[in-house]
Amino acid sequence: MEYDYLIVGSGLFGATYACQATRQGKKCLVIDKRPHLGGNVYCENVEGINVHKYGAHIFHTNNKEVWDFVNSIVPFNRYTNSPVANYHGKLYNLPFNMNTFYQMWGVTTPEQAVAKIEEQKAEAVTKMKAEGVSEPRNLEEQGLCLVGKDIFEKLIKEYTEKQWGRKCRDLPAFIIKRLPVRLVFDNNYFNDAYQGIPIGGYNKLIEGLLEGVECKTNTDFFKSEYHDWCKYAKQLVYTGPIDEYFDFCYGKLDWRTVSFKTRVEDTPNYQGNAVVNYTSHEQPYTRVIEHKHFEMFGQAVYDCPKTVVSEEYSTEYKEEMDQYYPVNDNKNNLLAEKYRALAENEDGVLFGGRLAEYKYYDMAPIIEKVMGLVIE
Ligand code: FDA
Repeated sequence: MEYDYLIVGSGLFGATYACQATRQGKKCLVIDKRPHLGGNVYCENVEGINVHKYGAHIFHTNNKEVWDFVNSIVPFNRYTNSPVANYHGKLYNLPFNMNTFYQMWGVTTPEQAVAKIEEQKAEAVTKMKAEGVSEPRNLEEQGLCLVGKDIFEKLIKEYTEKQWGRKCRDLPAFIIKRLPVRLVFDNNYFNDAYQGIPIGGYNKLIEGLLEGVECKTNTDFFKSEYHDWCKYAKQLVYTGPIDEYFDFCYGKLDWRTVSFKTRVEDTPNYQGNAVVNYTSHEQPYTRVIEHKHFEMFGQAVYDCPKTVVSEEYSTEYKEEMDQYYPVNDNKNNLLAEKYRALAENEDGVLFGGRLAEYKYYDMAPIIEKVMGLVIE
């Protein structure tokens, strides 16, 4: 037998596993059906800019061990995610903080901001009570009770409707449990201690993780000789979709997806920020990503004469599309449980990552998970 591990999928789960196993003297083969390595963190170089082909990826974590590990593979830059919202041409800082409240109402102190929010929350509750309603019945009522009319209507309502393809009044209240507001002038989206982008892009991270590991792209597990994996390896690490592994025996799991329209703009600086959310129905897309701002700062933005922007659209999932987010409704959760039960009885196979676990993971938790596995 040639390999200790056959690893299906070269995304962060597969690549980190291969790295750890190789460091322990194991021989691995990584296969991926795509024409490139890296899974969803893969970037395409366009006009000297790393374009996040499968959606914007910002690494963030509170786990120092994970941060030190990824930085030992490739140093990370100081990118700080501070998205801006555009509502009918007016700009607001996100997440909701003192800058947002100043832009919204002209208030300058936390006390004034709290008073304004509380006044609007009370208005929403009074209106509901007048209608004989004690608990929010849908996402719209929930949002209004949590943050009041202005923030909800300008920054949440239509954006959420674009994301879900349904009216907030027709969406369940539980989708939004909390809407944190910050009473400080702080536009840093994440609360984590560490965040950034690998210097030189995510492909450098993947190349570093897979250094010295044999890899084959354009190789689909189900359509290649490796389907008969026992002939090649002692163990299988499978990071593809769990339902496909079991030949969809219980039926197909649903996904939500996003699609992107990417173009080159003949200007060095198109929107002045990596992420701009469009929070009204005026634009059909939810966000515009300007990729260079993830990695270029100050003069470097202007030293690169062009820019690449991607409009992001929430899209109904159809077969053959990229699977992005699991659908956490009852039907799909039950189906996923049935597949997980089958996976537990599959000898010599480790199911890991977002597709095989049918679970949304950020990048850092994926790495943390692999770091915690015992590789024998
Ligand atoms: P991933 O999908 O990356 O890898 C699986 C690999 O398996 C793929 O390369 C696929 O081709 C391969 N494969 C599947 N079936 C196969 C088969 N039959 N044969 C061979 N190969 C097969 N996280 C974060 O921390 N910050 C962020 O900003 C974002 N942003 C973000 C945006 C969007 C739109 C999404 C959907 C997700 C994020 N994420 C994120 C999450 C991040 O993408 C996620 O944590 C990692 O991609 C998970 O890595 P995996 O290895 O599990 O899957």
